[in-house]
This record gives sequence, C-alpha cells and structure tokens, in this order.
Amino acid sequence: MVRGRNAEEQKLVQDMVEHGQGHLLRFWEDLGNGQKDMLVNDLRRIDLDWVKSVRHLLHEESHGRRTARVPEIIEIPRTSRQRKSLRQAYERGEALIQSGKTAAFTAAGGQSSRLGLETPKGTYPVTPVREKSLFQVHAEKIGFLQDKYGVSIPWLIMTSETNHGQTARFFEENGFFGLDPALVRFIEQGMYPALDGEGRMFLREMHRVFLGPTGHGGTFQTLNESGALKWLKKHGVEELFYFQVDNVLIDILDPVFLGHHLAGRCQMSSKCVMKRDPEEKIGVFVIEEGTPTVVEYSELDTLDLEDGAHVEDLKAGNVAIHLINIDFALQEIGVKAHLPLHVAHKAIPHVNDAGQKVKPTAPNGYKFEAFIFDALKYVQETIIMEVERSEEFSPLKNRTGEDSPETVFRDQLRLFASWFEDAGIRVPRDSHGEPLYKLEVSPRFAPTRTSFLERVDAGLVIEGDLYLA
Ligand code: UD1
Repeated sequence: MVRGRNAEEQKLVQDMVEHGQGHLLRFWEDLGNGQKDMLVNDLRRIDLDWVKSVRHLLHEESHGRRTARVPEIIEIPRTSRQRKSLRQAYERGEALIQSGKTAAFTAAGGQSSRLGLETPKGTYPVTPVREKSLFQVHAEKIGFLQDKYGVSIPWLIMTSETNHGQTARFFEENGFFGLDPALVRFIEQGMYPALDGEGRMFLREMHRVFLGPTGHGGTFQTLNESGALKWLKKHGVEELFYFQVDNVLIDILDPVFLGHHLAGRCQMSSKCVMKRDPEEKIGVFVIEEGTPTVVEYSELDTLDLEDGAHVEDLKAGNVAIHLINIDFALQEIGVKAHLPLHVAHKAIPHVNDAGQKVKPTAPNGYKFEAFIFDALKYVQETIIMEVERSEEFSPLKNRTGEDSPETVFRDQLRLFASWFEDAGIRVPRDSHGEPLYKLEVSPRFAPTRTSFLERVDAGLVIEGDLYLA
C-alpha cells in the first residue's frame, strides 16, 4: 500500500483502500509533490459514504412504469377575462419588484459539453450586431429593471469548479457590465464523482479524480452552503427568479409570472412553452402522484397516462424558468431534503493503467445529477404558466442544428423585427421573409416588447444594420 506524506494523508489512503477505491492512488509514487497535493485535494472532497449510498443506483437506468396525468396550465390570454387576469398579475408582480423584494439566479455551472466549449457558456457571443455575450445580455436586463424601478436586484450566478474562475474574471474584466459588483455573487456548486459498474471512481489524469457538477438540482444545496440564501434574506428578498444561462430570450422577473405566483401563494412556479412537435427534445410537465414534475423526453415511453390521455397530449414543455420562494428554499429543501439523484450511463474520459488518457466512444460509467424540477414535489401550491416561445425561449445547447448559435441568432433577429413592426416601423425582408438587415435592441433600451413599444420612435427608418441603445 502507498504511504501518505503525513498522518492525515495516511488516513486518507487507508480510507480509500478500505472503500475499494485504492486504485485512485496507483500512480502515487510517480507523482511530484504538487501533483500529490492536487490528488489529495480531490480525495478530501469525496464523501465515501455518499459513494457507498449511491452504488445501488447503478444499472438502474430503466425505470419502472409511471402513472401520470396532464397538468393544468395558465394559458396565454385569449379571452377578455384572461387578459384582465393578466393585467392584475402584472400589477401585483410589478409591486413586488418595486418594493425591492426580488432577486435573480442563473444556473451556469454546466460543462457545455454538447457545445464543445473551453470557456463558460455565458461568455459566448450571441447578439446579432454587437455580439454581446449571454452574460452581458442578462446583466443588461437586470440593469434595466434596477433603473426602471429604482431598486437593487441581487444576482446570483451558480458556477462549478470547471468554470468558476473564468466566470468571475469575465465579469471583472468587463466591469460587471455596469452592475454594482456588491450585488452580483458567484456561488460554486459541488461536484460528484462518476462510478464504473463496480462502484469504482475514475482518474481523469494520474493526479486528478473525475468529478462532474451536481446538476442544477444542486441549486438549493449551493444556495444554503454558500450562505447566499441568508444574504438574500438580509437584502429583504422574498422571491427568487431562476433561469439557465443558455436562454438568450429570457424575460427576467416577468411581472405577470410573478403576479400569478404571488396570487397563488406558490412556493415554486414554472413557465412552459407548447412543444413544437412530439419529437422535440424537451422535458414536459406532468402530475405524478398528485404533484407536478417534469418527465424528460427520453423517459416518455415509461409513462401511462390517466383519463384516457396520450403522450401526445403532454404539450407543456419545460423551459427551466422558475420562481422560488425564499422561505421555502430555506426551510423545506436546503436544510431537510435532498433531491433524488438521476443516473446517466455515459462515456467517461479517464487514464488507463499505463497512465494514458482514454476517450471511450461507448458508455463505460455512471454520472449522477440532481434536477431542480424535482423540488416541485415539496410544494403545496404551484402554477405552470404558458408563454410564447418566440418571445421568451431560445437556448444555446448544440454546435449546429436546433438550439445552436445559428438558431439563437435567427430567433433574436425575428423577435426584434417583430417589435419594430409592432411599432409601425417597416422592416425590409429578403425573399424568404427573413429580416434583410441585422437588428439588435439593447436590453438597456428595452428588454421586452412592452417596454420597447413605450420608448421607440415610430418615425425610425431601417436602411441597414441597426443597433438600438
Ligand atoms: C434542460 C431540462 C429540460 C428542459 C431544457 C430547457 C434537465 C434534465 N432538463 O435540459 O427539461 O427542457 O433544459 O432548456 O434539466 N447546469 C448547472 N449545473 C449542472 C448542470 C447544469 O448549472 O450541474 C446548468 C447549465 O449551465 C445549463 C442548464 O443547467 O445552463 C441546463 O443544463 P443542460 O444540461 O443544458 O440541460 P438540458 O439537457 O438542455
């Protein structure tokens, strides 16, 4: 057995061996002191009891059959009664923002593996003319709200070990995009090891253990352990607006959503869009055992639907936009409950016994993640509110095809063009009906259609690329 350099390391080595993880130390004698430090640092962070407790989840990929029903949603207003309720919700929501009791939260701890980026996804340039990054777009939307309502809106950004330093530096180098740095806080989520079929961890380098972020379900734990929830409480925050970094069209702190959430006295609420077609790779909302949750598109075939409904009737697509009541987060989830773990069979890059890096093409191990929407099962009251996809949802996920830089560009252009046309401004279009010129509206000018229509000069003429600020 290898020997640690001091008593504490020796104990760590022994623990690893006793828990069947001694192979993580097989290159120990070849490592320099700095590398030994890094390995020890990784090992110290691993909770061996946790590893033991999740072993039973391995090989459990196929879930049994589940019974669910189609949830009720608040639809996009079509009748005059629905429009009246929207106005009331708007006023209620606006009043809470105005009283300084709201904050924003961005999940940005993912690894952007589908996009194949080395840098955090939030730093990716997305806007049509100025090529602003996702982070800048979000920051300017928050800046607009702070100015409009004359209040402070704290903003939490959840990072992970893989991108924490780069994210914080990006904000510093860009002067926090005009926001008060005291109101922007980066909180780093935890990491889980991946396991092989026998419950053994992987080395990604001879001196590094393979670890991955805990999933966006790690939000509650991260909020708690970082002290951020208490910080929000100190700022008088009552409701937290959760969204994911990849959605360029996000309507941060939409007053209508907030108003419905408050009127329903909800602990956690969600937005949805209608699924484009049955094949779309998007999670859908269902009611399972009396509580709402999301079923991933990959698991739809495990569902039996009540009341004669069919899987095609599940149209409320999850856009990962939530409102979370702070007391609920503090009392119910963070402290008492742990969200269930989801296991995914994945190809895990690792080093082989010869110390060479291997990138398998087939799944060789299991990764663990918690999902934010599983918190919905702890709520007493909740709403799901439908919104227009073209107005609020265009995520950056893939390198090409759907949800790629190309569609994110196109969706912004189409949206901005429709705002101009709504204001009576002619938008020149090409033979396919797409806007001829690049158009961009700074969120500092107007982050939504409503605020755009209030401010824009209807006499404006579009003769070339246009950036409105
Ligand atoms: C997710 C939802 C899906 C929804 C879609 C909408 C899940 C399992 N599925 O899918 O139902 O339709 O978003 O866009 O969530 N993140 C972290 N920490 C992590 C992992 C992820 O902060 O440990 C963040 C990422 O930075 C990203 C977001 O969570 O902003 C979403 O992660 P991603 O893996 O892209 O989720 P999807 O599979 O696209």
